[in-house]
Amino acid sequence: MNQKVRKAVFPAGGLGTRFLPATKVIPKEMLALVDKPVIQYGVEEAINSGIEHIIIITGRGKGAMEDHFDHSYELDATLERRGKTELLAVSKGVSSLARISYVRQKEPLGLGHAVLCAKELVGGEPFAVILPDDVIDAEVPCLKQMIDIFDEKGGSVIATATVEGPAISAYGCLAGAMDKQNPRIFNTTGMVEKPKFEEAPSKQAIIGRYILTPRIFALLEETKPGAGGEIQLTDGIRALLKEEKIYGYTFEGKRYDVGDKFGMLEATVEFALKREDFGERFREYLKGLKL
Ligand code: UTP
Repeated sequence: MNQKVRKAVFPAGGLGTRFLPATKVIPKEMLALVDKPVIQYGVEEAINSGIEHIIIITGRGKGAMEDHFDHSYELDATLERRGKTELLAVSKGVSSLARISYVRQKEPLGLGHAVLCAKELVGGEPFAVILPDDVIDAEVPCLKQMIDIFDEKGGSVIATATVEGPAISAYGCLAGAMDKQNPRIFNTTGMVEKPKFEEAPSKQAIIGRYILTPRIFALLEETKPGAGGEIQLTDGIRALLKEEKIYGYTFEGKRYDVGDKFGMLEATVEFALKREDFGERFREYLKGLKL
């Protein structure tokens, strides 16, 4: 019986330069997608996948995240006094979502380094990594789908999307072959960071969800800075692949890169259209635009 995946690490120590100037002061994880900060989508996905403990890796200027998931006494008292019970429930709901711990990454030394910062809190058990920039809309939460594969297979699982054409060069890409029994599983033999289109070993692009065995920590400790002088998570995973099986998993659902301005716009439009309270009105508004 495999150990249960109980903890999820959220690397949120990056600078968010693609979203400047909005992210000069506001952490990109706190930008609103419709009316919820980006990071809350990931936190809710983790909770709905059975995660019990969330570990957010933060950095300089990221304090707003801690405040967001904490009680806000002034706000709650004011809403109560004004009889705004629905809004009060929203505010209180956020602060009681989950058990959350914070670890500060003193310098943004890379995604691999951010994950390594969670070593003490994770300990010796398998764990999930959720990149909050990747918001995934799915009937069954993406992480839940991956935990099911982990429970079945016992090895690390990396979420992938099938990317056609030269766009693959923007991603980490898996080498290997589709599983004969389950076409959503990719038996991984290697991985390349941002390959040239002609050299990409497959169409399987790595998306921001991972389930990793704790062996990754020792390997990340030995990982030298790679591309951009940063400690890369993919370098650590490549070392893990020499010792353990790793599976790519094509999740069911749609992913939006909301760390990117265009991705945020796509997500905003599609999430707004799905809203019960104003989706129809928004659809009519869009139809009326002379495009
Ligand atoms: P990105 O490269 O997308 O994030 O890292 P970034 O550096 O914040 O963004 P841009 O490219 O400048 O706009 C992927 C994930 O890894 C985290 C980021 O917060 C993001 O969730 N990260 C990256 C860290 O936690 N620490 C780091 O040192 C680097």
